[in-house]
Parts: sequence; C-alpha cells; structure tokens
Amino acid sequence: MDKKVTVIGAGNVGATAAQRLAEKELCDVVLIDIVEGVPQGKSLDLTEAAPIEKHDAHVTGANSYEASAGSDIVIITAGIPRKPGMSRDDLIGVNAGIVKKVSQEVAKYSPNAVIIVVSNPLDAMCHVAYEASGFPKNRVIGMAGVLDSARFRAFIAMELNVSVENTHAFVLGGHGDTMVPLPRYSTVAGIPITELMSKERIDALVKRTASGGAEIVSLLKTGSAYYAPASAAVEMAESILKDKKKILPCAALLQGEYGFKDLFIGVPVKLGAKGVEQIIEIKLLDEEKTALAKSAAAVEELKGVLKKLA
Ligand code: NAI
Ligand code: 2OP
Repeated sequence: MDKKVTVIGAGNVGATAAQRLAEKELCDVVLIDIVEGVPQGKSLDLTEAAPIEKHDAHVTGANSYEASAGSDIVIITAGIPRKPGMSRDDLIGVNAGIVKKVSQEVAKYSPNAVIIVVSNPLDAMCHVAYEASGFPKNRVIGMAGVLDSARFRAFIAMELNVSVENTHAFVLGGHGDTMVPLPRYSTVAGIPITELMSKERIDALVKRTASGGAEIVSLLKTGSAYYAPASAAVEMAESILKDKKKILPCAALLQGEYGFKDLFIGVPVKLGAKGVEQIIEIKLLDEEKTALAKSAAAVEELKGVLKKLA
C-alpha cells in the first residue's frame, strides 16, 4: 500500500483498528505495544487472515518505534481502559504519562504524521499529545464524537426501526458525562428526529448516548468498548488518507471558535489530507451553548489536573 498507519497500543481498540484498516485495504499497518510478542503475534495473525479476507495490506508488529517511521497517520490507543465504577477521568494519572512518551516517539519517527488520539480521558489526552509532539493543531485530533454520534445513530435506528444508513447525528463537547448530543442536528433521511419522536423518547436516547461507554463497561466488566471505537478511529483515518473531506465531530484545538481558547473539545470538523482542514461553527441555541460551556468547563478542569501532574 502507498499509505502507512501506525497504531500504538495493540490491545482491544488498537488491534481491532488494525484489522479494519487492513481489511479495508486503506494502508499498511504497524502495531506497536510495550508488551513483547503481543503486537508481533496479533500482526502475524492478521497477516494469516489476509488470504481469506482478500487484502494485500502488510501488517507488522513491533515494540520499538523504528518500525513506525514515516507514518502518514498514528493512532494512539496506548493506555489503560476503565473498569466498572471508574470514570474516564480516573485514567488521567497513568495515561498522561503514557501518551506523553508515545507522542514524543511519534514526533521523532513520523514528523509529518496526523495523530488521532483515542486514549482516555480523550480531550485531556489530546492536550498531552499536542504539547508532547509539538505538531501544529491541524495534525492532532481526538476520536470521540464519531463514536458518540454512532451510538446515538444506532439508538435512533433501533427506536424508529429504520436503517442505520438513513441516520445522521451530531454529538459535540467533551467525551464524558457532559457530552452534548444535538437532536436538532440529528436526522433520519434528512428529517430532524425532533419531528419523528416525542421529547420524552429523545431525552431517553440522549441519556443512553451520554452513558453509552459506561453501559458497555458494565456489561464487559473487564474493560471498555472497542468495536465501535475502532470503527470510529478508522472512519477518521480513511477521510484523511483519501482526502475525503468528511465533516465529522472530532476533538480539535479551539482558538476562539465557539468562544473557547486553547481547548480541545468535540466540534464538527472537515477531515482531509492535512488533518483538521476546517472547524465548522454551527448555530447553537442558548441551552445548547450552556451545555457546551459546561462540557468545556469539565475539560478545563482536567487541564488543571494535567498541570498538577506535570
Ligand atoms: P487495552 O488495555 O485493551 O489496550 C491498551 C494497550 O496499550 C495494551 O495492549 C497495553 O499494553 C498498551 N500500552 C500500555 N502502555 C503502553 C505504552 N507506553 N506504549 C505502547 N503501548 C502501551 O485497552 P483498550 O480497550 O484498547 O483501550 C485503550 C484506550 O482507549 C483506553 O485508555 C480507553 O479508555 C480508550 N478508549 C477511548 C475511546 C474514545 O472514545 N476515545 C473509546 C474506547 C477506548
Ligand atoms: C467509550 O466511550 C471507554 O471512552 C470509551 O466506550
């Protein structure tokens, strides 16, 4: 393949993302992890699936970063996931150190890459990756909104018994309990869901979306979601690799947009070869602005925690 993507962290999200990237023949894939044998074993396993899945993407695994050199995109999934009873924010102490080290290696070996951050707490980890890599703001992007919107879409499709392909949804804000699903901008075949469902049912779906990650954690008990998160990261990677310029909700560094400064938070962005090519400012109602401000305040609070950790 003429494109190369490195996935750091060969755990649940990382290995699943590697599988999807390879099976869609988007790029060659390098899997990196600190645990010896795991990235090598999983990449060999994926390579042995290739004749059946009919793809020619090369998948390799390594414990050091030389193998990642010259990547077009690096997806960072390294870190610990949450267990039942933990919030994403509880992961900050451990994951900040991991994401910092990983981002420094990315900058050294793939200075022109676009970084897609997945590790939690997502918005705070974007700040860590941005600072540690020294990359420009268009090349550090967080994955959360695509996942949260996909959950909202799945719930809308279940509720109305329609194809998921007809659904569209936008979830903005930080990737936490304060995320902001936007029913007014969520549609089925172009029809706003506000015309298709009662307020009561919309509120129930919004609530389920905001706690969608916790719902999976409480079922799995040993970790968090990974199929949908991997799909979401790969949709972002595909838009960048193919310069598709899709508008997707992603965590991007705001410098005045939506009234916030120096803050990574989920907003609609245009994703193309340069990474974030545009931040789209949509008109929000007062109550939506208030919800976004509350979400931004939660991310600001985590930035404060990062400062104390530094
Ligand atoms: P996992 O535990 O299955 O995999 C994490 C992998 O990272 C492990 O294989 C571990 O060995 C590796 N790792 C740890 N330190 C490392 C280092 N310094 N360098 C390289 N690899 C290292 O966890 P999972 O389920 O894959 O989740 C990964 C992260 O992604 C977690 O922080 C989780 O909370 C987050 N996540 C974020 C989502 C989002 O929407 N942004 C969605 C799902 C997960
Ligand atoms: C999720 O939303 C854990 O952030 C992850 O599933």
